[in-house]
This record gives sequence, structure tokens and C-alpha cells, in this order.
Amino acid sequence: MTEAWIIDGVRSPRGRGKPGVGSLSEIHPQRVMAQVLNGLKDKVGFDPADVEDVVAGNGSGTGDHAHDIARMSVLDAGWPITTPGVTLHRFCGSGQQAVSFAAMGIMAGHQNLVIGGGVESMSRYSPDHTDGFTANNQHLFEQYPLIPQGISADLIATLEDFSREDVDAYAVRSQERTERSIEEGRFADSLVPIYHDDGKLALDRDEHPRPGTTMESMEGLKPSFEKMGTTKFEGQARTFDDICKDIYPEIDKVSHVHHAGNSSGVVDGAGAILLSSPDFAKAHGLKARARIHMTATAGAEPVIMLTAPGPAAEICLNKAGMTKDDIDLFEINEAFAAVVLRFQRDIGVEDDKINVSGGAIALGHPIGATGPMLIQTVLSELERQDKSTALIAMCTGGGMGTATIIERI
Ligand SMILES: CC(C)(COP(=O)(O)OP(=O)(O)OC[C@H]1O[C@@H](n2cnc3c(N)ncnc32)[C@H](O)[C@@H]1OP(=O)(O)O)[C@@H](O)C(=O)NCCC(=O)NCCS
Repeated sequence: MTEAWIIDGVRSPRGRGKPGVGSLSEIHPQRVMAQVLNGLKDKVGFDPADVEDVVAGNGSGTGDHAHDIARMSVLDAGWPITTPGVTLHRFCGSGQQAVSFAAMGIMAGHQNLVIGGGVESMSRYSPDHTDGFTANNQHLFEQYPLIPQGISADLIATLEDFSREDVDAYAVRSQERTERSIEEGRFADSLVPIYHDDGKLALDRDEHPRPGTTMESMEGLKPSFEKMGTTKFEGQARTFDDICKDIYPEIDKVSHVHHAGNSSGVVDGAGAILLSSPDFAKAHGLKARARIHMTATAGAEPVIMLTAPGPAAEICLNKAGMTKDDIDLFEINEAFAAVVLRFQRDIGVEDDKINVSGGAIALGHPIGATGPMLIQTVLSELERQDKSTALIAMCTGGGMGTATIIERI
């Protein structure tokens, strides 16, 4: 088996995911992804005709995201018609999965140069998600009454006994670390500015962080998912909180601790990573920054939904013959504060090894695009600290987790 080398990666800035407010909200996601692809091409200097596939994650799959956004972005970028693209869906883990599949094609010896990435315009999400995870399939809902993710996060906090203070303290840390990373220019190397069609700059910096966030500044924020959890919506036999209590009878109420300040931000963006076989890289003068050492996926209880980063990390470590002590840095998606706190408890990771550059609470989580962004962030941080190995993990809808171990070359 050959290795899959990470040559380089880029990403768009993350724009606030509100129509008419966010700086990327008016730009079609195909256009955003196309500009990221060209940013990668310009940074590395490869020939797009050599790219055997662009694998992209997307967590929506409808409207402007519909069908195969990877191929459409390739065409929009003006790349040769011979360069294909494929889009996949593993909820929030879509982009990380895209990088894994891109690496697997190379490791299997079937491909030489593949891009793994992802794109999401959360500005385009409809405000009323009436279809839910089970897509109106009553048969499935009766077996797994999947609940909105914010309530799943509150359920984790309830079961783990994370207080509002615990999750807020984590969120303050995310903002502080993000602020420091931005001030020190740690993201600058991977950022591709995004332009409107008329050539005017749309965005060249992350738009979601709130520097100066403190425990006090978040004190007045109301829980975002309490009303949703306690309301019996039309056609529902039980409230979402009732479902939690039925499945986890050890709790007598759901403690709603998540709010706008300690949940991942709703944002727009795209990211892409160029992967190569060692032979192709050497023959074409491409310098590698890291290799994909191992990838894994895991499934866990789907109603609580967001607990699988720990199991995915464990599978990944076991398959690699490693322990958590072999990992220098952990990058765990901050879908909600309780998700990272639970991961730390599951795996036993110290504060100074996890999400050291900040994360999605401050920066935002553009669903299908987040995976490649996390990989780039932690790779840059490994280089900055001159360390070797990182583990990236994410929770996803449907109760799954994705994990990747990368190693600098
Ligand atoms: C939690 C959530 C519902 C909040 O949405 P929202 O109310 O639209 O959030 P906003 O960013 O507009 O913030 C609302 C208000 O909170 C306040 N606020 C947000 N962050 C703050 C902070 N760090 N400090 C102080 N106040 C803050 C602000 O007053 C803000 O209003 P403003 O934008 O007018 O200043 C949304 O962020 C969410 O759904 N996140 C999770 C997304 C998700 O599920 N992803 C998949 C995960 S697996």
C-alpha cells in the first residue's frame, strides 16, 4: 500500500451564515468552492488536468447545494472538463470523510492526485427544518426518534453533569484562543479571499469570532434549545425533552445549557486539501507537509447523536497501534461545548493539547467544509510548534464520528 501525502490546503474565510448579513451569503456555494479550488492551484502550482477527482463534502444536498456540487465547482473554476468531482454526505463529517476517501483512493493505488474538501452555505438553510433527520419516515422515527442537535448537546451536558459555567468557560477559552490565533496571523497562510462576480472583495477574514467574550458578557444569553425541547409541536406525541427522558430514564429533566455563545457558529465557507501519492509528488516537484496515517469512523447511540468522536478516535488509535499519548495535538470539532468536554473525558486529553488554535464556537462550523479546515488548522499548528502527530475528530448527525490521524513529513 502506498502513502497518501498532504501537499497543502486552503480555505475560504468563514462568513456569518445569515442571508443579507454574512459577507459570503450572497455568493453561490459553487462559486465559493471554485475560488477555493483555484486558490489551492495558485498556492501549490499543480496542473488541474492532473487531478483525478475532487471529492467534496456537503451537509445540505438541496437547493443551491443540490446534486454534485464538487463537479459543478470544478467547472465553475474553469478547470479542464476532464477533471471530475464527486459529492458525499456524512452530515457534519462530510468534509473530513471527503479527505479520507481521497486518501484511500491514493493508498489503494487507484489514484495519484486527488482533492478532498467541502463546502457549505448555511445562509441558504431554511429556517424551518420540518423534515428532520428521519425525513418524515415514521417507521424509522419510531425506532430512533432523532432530536435536533442542540438538544442532543444539552442531553450530553445533563448526563455528564456539565454546568452552564463549565460550557461557558469552554466557550470563553475557544474565543480567547481564536483571538490569539488571528492576532498572530496563524490562519493567514491557508486563507483564500473570496470575491463577488464583479471582482469586488467579499471577505478576507473570519467574520464570526467575538473577541473579548467573557463569562460575564455571556451571562444574559438565554438557552437556545429550551423552548424547542419543551414544546409539543403539531403532530408530535412527545416533546423532544420527553424523548430524551424516555431513552435516558436516569434523568428527570434536560438541562438546557447551550446558547449562541457556546454552540458552533452558523457560517458559510469552503475548504480543500491536495493529496498525492509519493511517486507523483516526487515526479512533479510537489513538497509534502504531512501524511494521512489512519482514518476511522464510528457509530454510537443516534438520539444523543454527538458522542461518537471518542469512539472514532479510539478505533483510529487502535488501528494505528497508537495511544492518546502518541498524539501531540487533538482537533475536535466544537459543534457544541459539551461535545468537546465529553471527548476530553472519554479519551483523557489535557487542555493544552486540544483545540489550541480556537474552534467552531468562535469561528463557526460550515458543516461539510469544516473537516478540511480542521485538518489544515492543526497541521499549521503542528508546524508552528514543531510537533509531529495530530488526531482530528468530529461528531456527525445520525450518531457517527469521523477521525483522522496525520503525521508531519
Ligand atoms: C445556538 C444558535 C441557535 C444561536 O443562533 P442565533 O441566535 O442566530 O445566534 P447569533 O450568532 O445570531 O447570536 C445571537 C445573539 O447572541 C449574542 N451572542 C452570541 N455570541 C455571543 C458571545 N460570545 N458573547 C456575548 N453575546 C453573544 C449576541 O447578542 C447575538 O446577537 P447579535 O448578533 O445581534 O449581536 C445557533 O448558533 C446554532 O444553531 N448553532 C449550532 C449549529 C449546529 O447545530 N451545527 C451543527 C452542529 S453538530
